[in-house]
Amino acid sequence: MAGVSFNLPAGREKEEVETVLSLPYLAYALNESFHFFGGIMIVGIGVDIIEIERIRASIERFGSTFLQKLFTDTEITYCRSKKNPMQHFAARFAAKEAVSKALATGWAGEFQWKNVEVVNDPSGKPNVKLYGSTAEALQHSRVLLSLSHSDTSVIAFAVIEKKE
Ligand SMILES: CC(C)(COP(=O)(O)OP(=O)(O)OC[C@H]1O[C@@H](n2cnc3c(N)ncnc32)[C@H](O)[C@@H]1OP(=O)(O)O)[C@@H](O)C(=O)NCCC(=O)NCCS
Repeated sequence: MAGVSFNLPAGREKEEVETVLSLPYLAYALNESFHFFGGIMIVGIGVDIIEIERIRASIERFGSTFLQKLFTDTEITYCRSKKNPMQHFAARFAAKEAVSKALATGWAGEFQWKNVEVVNDPSGKPNVKLYGSTAEALQHSRVLLSLSHSDTSVIAFAVIEKKE
């Protein structure tokens, strides 16, 4: 850098200092600086993988009691409209667990199954709607979600971001 000179700390190579001035580091520093300027911060991430068979067994055993306890009417209608409803029920189960992990409170605290609802937009993209105590705990926050299915398993990945 023209006009700027500094002494390298003992044991540090020039390449290390260049790394500190690199794009990833600057992106990190920018993210951190949002603390001061009122930006968006990632406050939690969560992932969950579920065997579809496990959900199928619970639904067959406990029937509508299980469904009503875990899923909203919108979710039940969506899953039942699909060729393989169990895959979609399992994905929503995984989504709720992933969000609970991102909340850091797990099963305790403010998490309740039906307070986290997965609603697909017209393109199929899943969005998360929050209700009750979970919505209160996540004021000024937004949950981002991605789902994927295989024949036997589903995976959900959730990110909670918060407006500072
Ligand atoms: C989105 C898409 C790639 C899903 O891929 P897939 O291998 O068939 O299915 P997966 O098992 O990996 O994922 C299924 C999940 O993807 C999610 N999904 C569907 N459409 C989506 C979209 N437009 N954007 C983000 N996620 C989407 C849903 O959550 C779905 O699960 P659900 O129905 O239980 O909610 C596929 O549906 C597609 O090609 N859609 C059209 C193109 C498109 O909209 N692409 C967006 C990403 S570039």
